[in-house]
Amino acid sequence: MSRITLPALQAMKKDGEKITCLTAYDSSFAALLDGAGVEVLLIGDSLGMVIQGQDSTLPVTLDEMIYHSRCVARGSQRALLMADMPFMADADPLQALLNAGRLMKEGGVQMVKLEGGAMQLETVRRLAAHGIPVCAHLGLLPQSVHKLGGYKVQGHDAKSASQIRDDALALQEAGADILLLECVPAALGAEISHRASVPVIGIGAGPDCDAQVLVLYDMLGITPGKRPKFSRDFTNEQEAVSGDIASAVRRYIEAVKSGSFPAKQHCF
Ligand code: KIV
Repeated sequence: MSRITLPALQAMKKDGEKITCLTAYDSSFAALLDGAGVEVLLIGDSLGMVIQGQDSTLPVTLDEMIYHSRCVARGSQRALLMADMPFMADADPLQALLNAGRLMKEGGVQMVKLEGGAMQLETVRRLAAHGIPVCAHLGLLPQSVHKLGGYKVQGHDAKSASQIRDDALALQEAGADILLLECVPAALGAEISHRASVPVIGIGAGPDCDAQVLVLYDMLGITPGKRPKFSRDFTNEQEAVSGDIASAVRRYIEAVKSGSFPAKQHCF
């Protein structure tokens, strides 16, 4: 079976079909999510927190990202695989190019994701020129948690909202193939999704994004501590016929495709 391609995701945006994305870190979950029909699997550096028990994503190394990417690649056949560039792997454009190359060659992914706005323009241009598909992550940037002073909603005021919007459009112009918005007001998520020609993935960015992503362990209710406001525990539902993981994933896909997730209570 061939994998979902970027043009296929583009066509889904054009046709108004919502795209589903979940994080995956190992082969067994990758096979389950792939079999359920999730279109994009993100090997997120959130693995530092949910797999390794670190208190941020900063300690995750490129070798660890490659290891988990390989596990996910072995378990899946259909989904497009996207891997995070871990903290400092993209410190300058040349380093980013070489590290993205390793994620693709050794990790087996089809796309890399990097955090940051205007400061990533040159890097995105360099990767695009070498044929490396890029997702640009804007809004709440978990790798900048110490600068931001916590995991807080971004783009609340007019100035920061227009900065995020301008960065998003500039990154698309520079060659980003997908944009990802984390923790921004739903109205900003809607505006950027409407104005961008590339698919926009949201996490805490409202229902009008072209795609939704969640951290798998949040939506299965197994991340310790308080679940983020933008997430939903798909295992713990009144209407659930069965509490198994595969049905939770199917409910997630149905909810994203029908537009019932995210609902008002998951938005900022
Ligand atoms: O690392 C990750 O899982 C992510 C998502 C929160 C989008 O970047």
